[in-house]
Amino acid sequence: MNQDQLKQAVAQAAVDHILPHLDSKSVIGVGTGSTANYFIDALARHKMEFDGAVASSEATAARLKSHGIPVYDLNSVGELEFYVDGADESDEHLHLIKGGGAALTREKIVAAVAKTFICIADQSKLVPVLGRFPLPVEVIPMARSHVARQLVKLGGDPVYREGVVTDNGNVILDVHNLQIVNPVELEAQINAIVGVVTNGLFAARPADILLLGTPEGVRQLNR
Ligand code: 5RP
Repeated sequence: MNQDQLKQAVAQAAVDHILPHLDSKSVIGVGTGSTANYFIDALARHKMEFDGAVASSEATAARLKSHGIPVYDLNSVGELEFYVDGADESDEHLHLIKGGGAALTREKIVAAVAKTFICIADQSKLVPVLGRFPLPVEVIPMARSHVARQLVKLGGDPVYREGVVTDNGNVILDVHNLQIVNPVELEAQINAIVGVVTNGLFAARPADILLLGTPEGVRQLNR
């Protein structure tokens, strides 16, 4: 199985996981990226079995709407049972690095609201220690140089993601060469830098379930 087939398999497994819990009032939080796109496509086959979705990006909103799935503003939704999204890395505690697609802030907001966060990924994303994937940090544009200097003090090598503007009108710094032994602490430290909107560590609010695509089938890890 290639990587895309593994992503498709976990996307289908996530649909199978949530379907028994859905009813005509259910609204589902949906993430961003290629794995999340496979999830949207699989979910669309059951669009009569739930109410609609909250999207973590404009791209995801467009894909949901293209399937005829209603997209709601998070502020108009009382309760989200599930949030389903991919990740760039996960450790065995389901602490994640996200933001490869620059959607980290909205992803973190929707994940914070959801009762159950299901992360879907192919097996290459499971790592012993987070940090091989450069950590994305969303930054207010005028604070870019200041934030970069503070990130260097924390031991990282920040690189400006040229040409990328987030859905919130901000920029991304990708921080290389971090050995993230304490993700909860580092997430808070980076978020405390003035000018940072948020960073791609999902450790204070990790995933609850990780569905991992492997050639032997879908593995489930629980927090
Ligand atoms: C977007 C994300 C994605 O979940 C992450 O980049 C994984 O993407 P893919 O499913 O394409 O591998 O955090 O901001």
